[in-house]
Amino acid sequence: AEDGYELWLRYHPLAAEQATIYRSHATQLIIGSATPTQTVTREELQRGLGGMLGRAPPLSDAVTSDGAIVVGTPASSPLIARLRLDTKSLGNEGYLIRSIVVNGRAATVIVGNNDIGVLYGAFHFLRLLQTNHPVDHLDLHDSPRVKVRVLDHWDNLDGSVERGYAGASIWDWFKLPDWPAPRYTDYARTNASIGINGVVLNNANANSQILTPTYLEKVAALANVFRPYGIRVYLSARFSAPIELGGLKTADPFDPQVQRWWRTKADEIYKLIPDFGGFLVKANSEGQPGPRDYGRTHADGANMLADVLAPRGGIVMWRTFVYSQANPDDRAKQAYDEFKPLDGHFRANVLLQVKNGPIDFQPREPFSPLFGAMPKTSLMMEFQITKEYLGFATHLVYLGPLYEEVLSADTMAHGKGSTVAKVIDGSLDNHALTGVAGDANVGSDQNWCGSDFNQANWYVLGRMAWNPTQSSRLIAEDWVRMTFTNDQAFVKPVVDMMMGSREAAVDYMTPLGLHHQMGPGHHYGPAPWDASESEADWRPVYYNRADSDGIGFDRSSTGSDAVAQYAPPIAAQFNDVKQTPEELLLWFHHVPWDYRMRSGQTLWYELVAHYTHGVDDVQQMRETWRHLNGYIDPERYQQAAAFLAIQEKEAQWWRDACIAYFQSLSQRPLPPGFSPPQ
Ligand code: GCU
Repeated sequence: AEDGYELWLRYHPLAAEQATIYRSHATQLIIGSATPTQTVTREELQRGLGGMLGRAPPLSDAVTSDGAIVVGTPASSPLIARLRLDTKSLGNEGYLIRSIVVNGRAATVIVGNNDIGVLYGAFHFLRLLQTNHPVDHLDLHDSPRVKVRVLDHWDNLDGSVERGYAGASIWDWFKLPDWPAPRYTDYARTNASIGINGVVLNNANANSQILTPTYLEKVAALANVFRPYGIRVYLSARFSAPIELGGLKTADPFDPQVQRWWRTKADEIYKLIPDFGGFLVKANSEGQPGPRDYGRTHADGANMLADVLAPRGGIVMWRTFVYSQANPDDRAKQAYDEFKPLDGHFRANVLLQVKNGPIDFQPREPFSPLFGAMPKTSLMMEFQITKEYLGFATHLVYLGPLYEEVLSADTMAHGKGSTVAKVIDGSLDNHALTGVAGDANVGSDQNWCGSDFNQANWYVLGRMAWNPTQSSRLIAEDWVRMTFTNDQAFVKPVVDMMMGSREAAVDYMTPLGLHHQMGPGHHYGPAPWDASESEADWRPVYYNRADSDGIGFDRSSTGSDAVAQYAPPIAAQFNDVKQTPEELLLWFHHVPWDYRMRSGQTLWYELVAHYTHGVDDVQQMRETWRHLNGYIDPERYQQAAAFLAIQEKEAQWWRDACIAYFQSLSQRPLPPGFSPPQ
């Protein structure tokens, strides 16, 4: 039975015709096995080709027939060295795949400067077959535009996962280090297939215990599994660990004993894990300890840890998600207010990890104003993969368009074309240390992600971390072909459905720039009326500000002036209600119910129309899916169908609850053409 375990690395037999063609391009496999990475590359090619073509090409030392596949680095293979390929531009992790003639025979070469680049190339080659791409005239080369491409697991040591909707943590701490479950290897293969090269194992709301010798041994066992796949392990560090584990009275970063404690801890870690990646830190946010507890800045805290890790090549990923009711007038301003003044104060091995928007992974937010505002600091992107605010496991919401929208947004920091992607890949301000993090949606569910379609969000995160300028549609197409089928009658409608799914969710949850209307705490389902939370800025009413006059959060110069955090041309645009993109209208402005929208209709009319469209879109998605019965296995087909039914019911719940509540304030009738909620 199909259970989704294989993700997009299914390698099921290809259609006969296709397989015949590919077999003639896979007659021999010439590949070393002198290193662990070479060995896993060989195994992956044998597994993939064997699965798709019915048999893996025999291993060989020399090209003796047309259709050989030659894999390796110039350093490890004299055969490849003799080809004198120009590999300079490939860097450490890049690869080329080329159809060439070797010894008078047609061959395909997969070459990198290092083993890991070759592994990435092998996955790309397999993807070509998985997506039915021709392989007879290949001339491809690729290398990542971003250096640190990590998954952040919000996994707790007790096996629970914060904001996880796919079962318990996959890290089975009780059985580690002695039982490295095969699942860890599959996890590493999966990540390597999309270029993920780092994993933060534990929740940013960190438990200090992860830094004890007992746990570090377990962490080392995982690092051993991941290493051949080019994946480094990182840990979330609790800033007060010197107190909790070291018995010190303080965690003040200026205290020499504190510094010594971290140095000793780092030595201990590197002894067990020589390629340890470094620390992720959530400090002075949502009650977590941090340098500000001692009157120090975020830079003081980050630099202290960075100095400890620098000699070993480690980095610090310091989060800018600070949230402490410090800006009672507008929570959206806090990260910028705290970090912008520190630009230029961070060590070279510090990455500031910035959430895509100023608040918290909403269905739609404007890009964070920190992007472009800290030219002397390396900023990395943090996207959420797990759908905390987007329907958890069941709603079909492909996040590619959300990622793409943020990355292609223009910060105007150095004039037109200063996109967020250029901040993230370091090209805007010439930074060598760059990164993208995705907050993982992986759990111990058989299908890893809570639903088959959620797997696409893991997939697209990896692909966009590798190259932040890629098209989310093309990535979706690859994913559908690899995960389901190459049948165009299936691929096209499913890709279209995925591409529209995020906008549908925006429409039925939080259209026109509304945000944080989810039930407080669990963040599932509508609660725009909710004012029960103790802290004002956890209350949905704080964000919608709906009253009898209108709706929306005034962040213009007449309100919180959050717009002033953007570069002047963007600030001017967002400050003006007429120039603000309507999709962000209520994020930046409090607007009267009868305000005329670009369509000529009133805001009230448009609001109702968006909620209604959202539901219509989900109905359309169900309809699309209904027509696709029979193209894929019944197990996965039926679960997606059942989940779409849940999504439709809940989209209606969102629409009806939100319209009813807002109507109680607007006192406007439902516009003509919209039937009252059933
Ligand atoms: C959100 C989320 C928390 C999480 C936090 C973070 O607020 O609800 O569960 O800890 O983000 O990113 O640190």
